[in-house]
Amino acid sequence: MKNTLIILKPDAVERGLIGEVLTRFERRGLKIIAGEVRTISEDVAKQHYAEHAQRPFFGELVEFITRSPSFVAVLEGPADTWRIVRSMMGTTNPAESTPGTIRGDYGLELAENLIHGSDGPEAAAREITLFFPQIS
Ligand code: RTP
Ligand code: MG
Repeated sequence: MKNTLIILKPDAVERGLIGEVLTRFERRGLKIIAGEVRTISEDVAKQHYAEHAQRPFFGELVEFITRSPSFVAVLEGPADTWRIVRSMMGTTNPAESTPGTIRGDYGLELAENLIHGSDGPEAAAREITLFFPQIS
């Protein structure tokens, strides 16, 4: 899968980190083939995070991702781009993320962990269709 979806979450946009994060991906050699500042609706947030619907933190997760604009984008790379992006993001909890990763360099809290990246080829295809139906 050459393409993957990223979301620079509301905390990243509020803190003015769009440019810094996108620069990392561009320096790595990935290409931004679509991107937009967009406030994610409750309906889309629930579809996007459907796998977590039964988890106790689901309500907070939807509230957080919809609270202010995100930057949603599609990145293109040679192959398995999702895997490269996930490794650059760091682990889910920034408190445990390695320095040098995005979450490890900019984050401190689990809920406000700056970035989403598709976690496999099927997720990438589904999420690109959800956010950018015109390019999937
Ligand atoms: P994402 O989907 O946002 O890229 O993050 P991820 O794959 O690293 O983590 P995932 O397991 O999919 O969880 C989605 C988001 O839910 C929040 N979370 N809260 N309170 C908790 O125990 C808990 N666990 C996960 C995180 O903000 C995570 O990014
Ligand atoms: Mg996830």
